[in-house]
Amino acid sequence: MKNKIEKFIAEVQSFEANSLEQLEAFRIKFLSKKGLVPLLFADFKQVAAEDRKAMGQLINSLKNAIQEKIVSLKQQLENQSDSEVSGMDLSLPANSAMGSRHPLSIVRNEIIDIFSRIGFNVSEGPEIEDDFHNFTALNFPPDHPARDMQDTFFIEKDPDIALRTHTSSVQVRVMENGEPPIRTISPGRVFRNEAISARAHCIFHQVEGLYIDTDVSFSDLKHTLFYFAKEMFGEETKTRFRPSYFPFTEPSAEMDISCNICGGKGCNICKYTGWVEILGCGMVDPNVLDTCNIDSKKYTGFAFGMGIERITMLKYQINDLRLFFENDLRFLKQFEAAE
Ligand code: PHE
Repeated sequence: MKNKIEKFIAEVQSFEANSLEQLEAFRIKFLSKKGLVPLLFADFKQVAAEDRKAMGQLINSLKNAIQEKIVSLKQQLENQSDSEVSGMDLSLPANSAMGSRHPLSIVRNEIIDIFSRIGFNVSEGPEIEDDFHNFTALNFPPDHPARDMQDTFFIEKDPDIALRTHTSSVQVRVMENGEPPIRTISPGRVFRNEAISARAHCIFHQVEGLYIDTDVSFSDLKHTLFYFAKEMFGEETKTRFRPSYFPFTEPSAEMDISCNICGGKGCNICKYTGWVEILGCGMVDPNVLDTCNIDSKKYTGFAFGMGIERITMLKYQINDLRLFFENDLRFLKQFEAAE
């Protein structure tokens, strides 16, 4: 009998349970009415008187070992199931991945930053525009090709409602609602009905700028944009202005910067010319000022507009515009370190 009890004690001590069911089976095996412990007590009656004390103590220590085992395993299993239910392990190290800003947002913020340092504020307007704000107020002749279905996504005809094709529409709203001096930039999404390729997309982003005051001249325009080019692409950057045409500016120009990749020596980005085009600009046409209730005899102004995609592609040497819209994490992750 002594051997039997010692074997039970060893069994109890090494017992482990994976579930409350297993633990219950263990309790029934030893402690239920017909379990092993009551059986031992029944056998105890036959034990010789001189052995009774030692044998009694042994059975009691078996019983205690069983009870202690049950209490400790029960606690352990209940703790486990608590953390399973909440699905949380608070002891795990924090390793959640950080997001990063989209390259177009990084560059848009940088452009805003550069112009706000010289007193420009930020204005915004609707992406769905009427014909007046997108075209008519900007001096587009009624038969101008930009109004054509091929360029513009119309939403309604008569009266014409369309997705704005540039953020110049926001500048019309600023002029209508405010008085000079006006110094504002309008960042935003614009839409043109173009085939998607490495160099064009039907959705892209612009920042357009407007400065209206007394005595604003073309040299103010040149110096403002020269300052911008140096801040954006580095102190060594040179600029040049080529004559151009926009219905809402007169005279109009396009601005090139010395190629920021080869420094002007010639490479495949600048097509071996040493120059890359970054924006359109000009002096605001007096017709536009008058349409927007600004006295063109008293005030003059300049305007400019650039594509954020183009600036970003030059800055980060990205050669396919479609990458900006695909949201491929392998592409986006490369901008984690940028602000
Ligand atoms: N709105 C013109 C465009 O979308 C850009 C521009 C703005 C040109 C202001 C001149 C002056 O292409």
